[in-house]
Amino acid sequence: MKEAEQGKWDADHYDTQMHFVSKLGRGVVELLGPVQGESVLDLGCGTGSLAGQMALLGAEVTGVDFSETMIEQARLKYPELLFEVGDARTYRSGRKFDAVFSNAALHWVPQADEAARTVAEALRPGGRFAAEFGGFGNVARIERAIHEAVREEGIDPEPRNPWYYPTIGEYTGVLERAGLDVRFAERFDRPTELPGGEEAIRHWLHAFAGSFLAGTDAAARERITQSVEERLRPELFRDGTWTGDYCRIRVLAWKPQG
Ligand SMILES: C[S@@+](CC[C@H](N)C(=O)[O-])C[C@H]1O[C@@H](n2cnc3c(N)ncnc32)[C@H](O)[C@@H]1O
Repeated sequence: MKEAEQGKWDADHYDTQMHFVSKLGRGVVELLGPVQGESVLDLGCGTGSLAGQMALLGAEVTGVDFSETMIEQARLKYPELLFEVGDARTYRSGRKFDAVFSNAALHWVPQADEAARTVAEALRPGGRFAAEFGGFGNVARIERAIHEAVREEGIDPEPRNPWYYPTIGEYTGVLERAGLDVRFAERFDRPTELPGGEEAIRHWLHAFAGSFLAGTDAAARERITQSVEERLRPELFRDGTWTGDYCRIRVLAWKPQG
């Protein structure tokens, strides 16, 4: 998988229009509860906002992300922190971490067993893993509207769909196969106000739905965007605000002591 296949990440746009993602991820930092001096691997760290927050709490954070543009931005924002380009499926480091953290990234990695092995390998015995990402049913309405709109353009959406939204039953099995001891898992609806007023769905598509639009010309992109807006407006647009039909999974798991 290349970055282009999941849509190229636009780091500036992510930080100006999609900052709600890391803002809402602060609850996951609380779930992890990093303390002074702990080493933490932030898997799929994006532009590093939550890595920066964990560093403020005294953790010694390493951020890893698949996207070079996101890592470049993270390094600019937090030159004192360590960031590496790496793939959650294959990343290996010589060291063991006290904790692995991940927010809003693992639903971009359908090879969940591979990512879970990365987590297990990165943790020291007794280390913990806290993560949140899209769960079964996440943005189902938005996803359906995108599928319908791209089909109208003669494009098959299925092979372009980059997302993995498991149930907690599926996902706790993934973690257990990797040898982790799951002590907490929940899936919950989180209707999410999207910033940008009338333009918010456009911003969202630009940030997250690039793979569906790859190879299309500007006119086709505009038709797809308008079609998605029209399909979703009755359900998700109210009083000038778009609300995404988000549904999240949160998990907390431990690597057993040796
Ligand atoms: C929605 S952003 C979340 C970023 C950050 N965790 C936050 O809360 O703002 C998703 C991130 O997952 C990264 N990602 C997607 N697939 C990945 C993979 N296989 N390995 C590592 N990172 C990946 C993307 O590059 C992107 O930066």
